[in-house]
Amino acid sequence: MADLKEVLLEAVKEAGAIVQTYFQGQFTIESKDGINNLVTEVDKLSEDKIITTIKKYYPDHSIISEESGEEKQDSEYQWIIDPIDGTVNFAHGIPLCCISIALKKGNHLLLGTVYNPMMNELFFAEQGKGATLNGLPISVSKKSDFRKACLVTGFPYKWPDEREHPIKVFERFVLEGLPVRRLGSAAIDLCWVACGRFDGFWEYNLSSWDVAAGYLIVEEAGGRITNFDGDAYSVFDKQTLATNGLIHEEMLRLIKNRD
Ligand code: IPD
Ligand code: CA
Ligand code: CA
Repeated sequence: MADLKEVLLEAVKEAGAIVQTYFQGQFTIESKDGINNLVTEVDKLSEDKIITTIKKYYPDHSIISEESGEEKQDSEYQWIIDPIDGTVNFAHGIPLCCISIALKKGNHLLLGTVYNPMMNELFFAEQGKGATLNGLPISVSKKSDFRKACLVTGFPYKWPDEREHPIKVFERFVLEGLPVRRLGSAAIDLCWVACGRFDGFWEYNLSSWDVAAGYLIVEEAGGRITNFDGDAYSVFDKQTLATNGLIHEEMLRLIKNRD
């Protein structure tokens, strides 16, 4: 039987080659649910390549993929795929986009990879074995002084009917005088927390394909990831808070607007 890690890496590299070939080139763009929620021809080509590769080795595994949905099989293995995370960036020629693939067995994430071919950055994690960037070990930042933290967030395409509107939460962090970035790819945001570029990331209303690989990468890099109540996180949660662990409580306090 083919090695799961090798199949994961083969799939992500093949998809990465496709994405890089089309980057800043010609491709069709359509709107999905909401005028700025885009899907390009390249999302579909990338996804087809990944699914074909996985099925070649593991035809009986389950798959959840952003553009083709869920294919359930009688298997405890489930691949979770975002063929391009940061499609709006990709469509505008902004090199902050990636392919994200994770493998889950039952309730446990086994493997995750996030690959940005435009920056030649391949993040990878295996449960219990740490996280790497281009093969070298990475870890979250050691910053404990929240006032000096550098943060990143994202906003949903459609405004959710939330009592705590995402802009209000964003405003609280900005009014604290903190630098808050918005890159446009949740998978990259998580990996940049994992490698210490950011100290914390939060976002509301992400999907499993946005977060699954990045979640494992953050955890294996020594970070902490929870929902906005500080509870154990699942890839199907609608609230994502990932930090270096040291500023987690401070971020929860501001997100929940507690004293
Ligand atoms: C999006 C990106 C973005 C986040 C959106 C996601 P997509 O994924 O991760 O950063 O703010 O909520 O939907 O549509 O580019 O795959
Ligand atoms: Ca996505
Ligand atoms: Ca996507």
